[in-house]
Amino acid sequence: MVLDASSATSHLQSYSKKDGLDVKTLIDSANFGGLTYNDFLVLPGLIDFPSSKVGLDTKLTKKISLRSPFVSSPMDTVTEENMAIHMALLGGIGIIHHNCSPDEQAEMVRKVKKYENGFINDPFVISPNETVGDVRNMKAELGFTSFPVTENGKIGGKLVGIVTSRDVQFHDNNDSKVSEIMTTELITGEKGIDLSEGNELLRSSKKGKLPIVDASGNLVSLISLTDLQKNQSYPLASKSFDSKQLLCGAAIGTVPNDRERLEKLVAAGLDVVVVDSSNGSSIFQLDMLKWIKSKFPELQVIAGNVVTREQAALLIEAGADGLRIGMGSGSICITQEVMACGRPQGTAVYNVTEFANQFGVPCIADGGIGNIGHITKALALGASCVMMGGLLAGTSETPGSYFYSDGKRLKSYRGMGSVDAMQQTSTTANASTSRYFSESDKVFVAQGVSGAVVDKGSITKFVPYLYNGLQHSLQDIGTPSLDELRTRVDNGEVRFEFRTASAQFEGGVHGLHSYEKRLHN
Ligand code: IMP
Repeated sequence: MVLDASSATSHLQSYSKKDGLDVKTLIDSANFGGLTYNDFLVLPGLIDFPSSKVGLDTKLTKKISLRSPFVSSPMDTVTEENMAIHMALLGGIGIIHHNCSPDEQAEMVRKVKKYENGFINDPFVISPNETVGDVRNMKAELGFTSFPVTENGKIGGKLVGIVTSRDVQFHDNNDSKVSEIMTTELITGEKGIDLSEGNELLRSSKKGKLPIVDASGNLVSLISLTDLQKNQSYPLASKSFDSKQLLCGAAIGTVPNDRERLEKLVAAGLDVVVVDSSNGSSIFQLDMLKWIKSKFPELQVIAGNVVTREQAALLIEAGADGLRIGMGSGSICITQEVMACGRPQGTAVYNVTEFANQFGVPCIADGGIGNIGHITKALALGASCVMMGGLLAGTSETPGSYFYSDGKRLKSYRGMGSVDAMQQTSTTANASTSRYFSESDKVFVAQGVSGAVVDKGSITKFVPYLYNGLQHSLQDIGTPSLDELRTRVDNGEVRFEFRTASAQFEGGVHGLHSYEKRLHN
């Protein structure tokens, strides 16, 4: 008998079983071992909304919300101030690494907090006593054509002039002082003006640069016409409610010196601290958490790393406002191989988030995020955010310079537990050794490798690619927001399925003689 087509959806109700598995059954029935992101898929749902309408708002910690779930890892080849500024502009957050002195780290936090889109807060400045030759050299080296001149040659000094390429162009004597040729009739903006007012002043004065000065005439920043022309707007930017400054995170270790480090970071305006350890369930971290909570009750604290409910319970009880999940899943990581310790990331994310979410503690899935699909799966398993090292490495916002090898443009990317990173540790920098409890080791036992990744361009293109991709992914699953994804995973509406080895083969590109994998335009 052929059934009536108009009864297809109601006929489905007569089936005792739905397609796929609910999330708990997926995890529980993986009795052969833990699950990685590649071991399962999410089944498609009904699309009744455009992908552009998918909301990616989420929580980083109990008190910090973000417009997108992306966090850059506190690694010395991933997050310094430039990455942190751009991650925050694009709706996520950067966590500044601590493989540097406390003062250097605090200065980076300060730069993120002081950043104003379109304003250059640390312009190259010269003094009136420098020479025309110096200006020519700086122009050749930096590519800029004009420099503000202050009495002491520094930002914060009294503005006395501006020197442009036009001033030096026909001046043959390289020994002449800048004071002899600089322009002293200046159009300036007052500290506190907004970008559109500055823009208007630039336009009406027909100048390329607008120095911004305080009431005493000291230089505080600069607006540049060229920057304004390529200036983007960042509607998703992560900002504090009160000050409207960009949000900034930073990592510290769990040794006694880290208390002093944190005091400097807080003085610089830090919003959230990540207590950085490969295994968060240690008495050192528990003590540190309790100290932070008593000393800085308003500061949000992300603790970790953890992969079990037992570890999570200890840190939640000690006051964690967020948890970081992952041990051994990072792209540069050899922890599971060397320590025999860790957990496949899919299982770790589900178990920890299932527990922590009951206490309102959001979790970050950290490590092993290699593509947009992995991000979706981490969030579907219960994570509120994903932390990325390798996926962001090689972008222009990461520290370090590009180099060429085999005709490819590359940047270094290394594990914080690599011998290279541990050797950088000094009396003032202890990120690597303290993360791996190796401060007193005479022979380092590496838990990470040091390598290189290809140039990925700027994150101002790459992160929007991740954002759009995630919106499309949620559209396919039929969930119009991350909140809805969580609700429908929890109530069993979103279904999952295991992927056999041949299913994984089938799901990748296959059967082609050659191809190029371009991820975005
Ligand atoms: P990725 O995004 O897969 O490259 O992983 C980055 C994550 O790996 C970081 O956020 C850390 O949690 C972790 N990690 C960083 N350095 C090391 C290391 O040397 N060994 C093991 N894990 C590391």
